[in-house]
Amino acid sequence: MRNLTDKLARERILTRDEFKKLLISDDDYLHEKARNEREKIYGNKIYLRGLIEFTNYCKNNCLYCGLRHANTQAKRYRLTKGQILECCAAGYDAGIRTFVLQGGEDAFYTDEVLTDVIRAIKNNYSDCAITLSVGERGYDSLKLLRAAGADRYLLRHETADTRHYAALHPPEMSLAARQKCLRDLKELGFQTGCGFMVGSPGQTLANIADDLFFIKELDPEMVGAGPFIPHSNTPFAEEKAGDLKLVLNILAILRLMKPSLLLPATTALATISNRGYEQGVNAGANVIMQNISPVSVREKYRIYNNKIGACENLTQRMQNVGCEFVVSRGDYTSV
Ligand code: 5AD
Ligand code: SF4
Repeated sequence: MRNLTDKLARERILTRDEFKKLLISDDDYLHEKARNEREKIYGNKIYLRGLIEFTNYCKNNCLYCGLRHANTQAKRYRLTKGQILECCAAGYDAGIRTFVLQGGEDAFYTDEVLTDVIRAIKNNYSDCAITLSVGERGYDSLKLLRAAGADRYLLRHETADTRHYAALHPPEMSLAARQKCLRDLKELGFQTGCGFMVGSPGQTLANIADDLFFIKELDPEMVGAGPFIPHSNTPFAEEKAGDLKLVLNILAILRLMKPSLLLPATTALATISNRGYEQGVNAGANVIMQNISPVSVREKYRIYNNKIGACENLTQRMQNVGCEFVVSRGDYTSV
């Protein structure tokens, strides 16, 4: 597999068959090479993001997600602007300089409400970046959010295959709408993140190769890729979780495809593996998101089962793998 790893590092792309081979390979060389590429651009620095899960209301019914509208068991909550600002204050003291506002698709947060929150955060913390992760919105809405000060936007494409997309989502959701939104985000100058779950029901290696081709074409600044984990109150309750090794290979491949990518070791990865953060970083990840939501709501934001809570010793854990957190917005670095 060394030849495939070398080819990917050289050409930043492989053929579908080559991707399929490399995805299931078992060779530390791939990970080593990915680490080296990350170090060339970002050194041993890991960016810390503060995740604020500000609403778990969602109008959608993605089949995999515990926040889906049809899950009547979920205890719903919304954070006020004041509560969100309190999260920011605590996060700022802990060295965080990017706040990620994540929520379901909740009509309560109109452009007016959301831009007001964004402006308030930017007024108080002018040295911080804001990342939004609030689902699909129209061009004009995104434009207002950008003008209010939002810097980045995460919207996973989930799968680049139309049939697979339809197997994961209800008929009213479409891959075309999702991709349109991603292109709007790029056009509006957001640092844009797409991504997908690894091991979602029905996913094949060919699907993953298509995800990689889609990413090559979209050319996002960030990619989120973590394991699918079943949630008991969803149609996928009995499905099995994504494979750790496959997740790590995907992270390494993404790093080699685009060395400057902002690439998180996800919470889902840390949920399926005790050493998930270390393993992710060793495979080329350079971002970790720390939950800074109020403790009182944390267990209500249950996208999947057994989601881990606040993590202690993260600083030490990064040092153990030769890395360190920096107090920085951690913007995308173009090369
Ligand atoms: N397992 C892992 N990730 C999930 N997501 C949603 N449900 C699950 C699950 N059961 C991911 C989706 C979504 C992001 C916010 O969380 O990829 O885009
Ligand atoms: Fe809603 Fe996002 Fe969950 Fe889909 S994945 S149900 S859009 S919170």
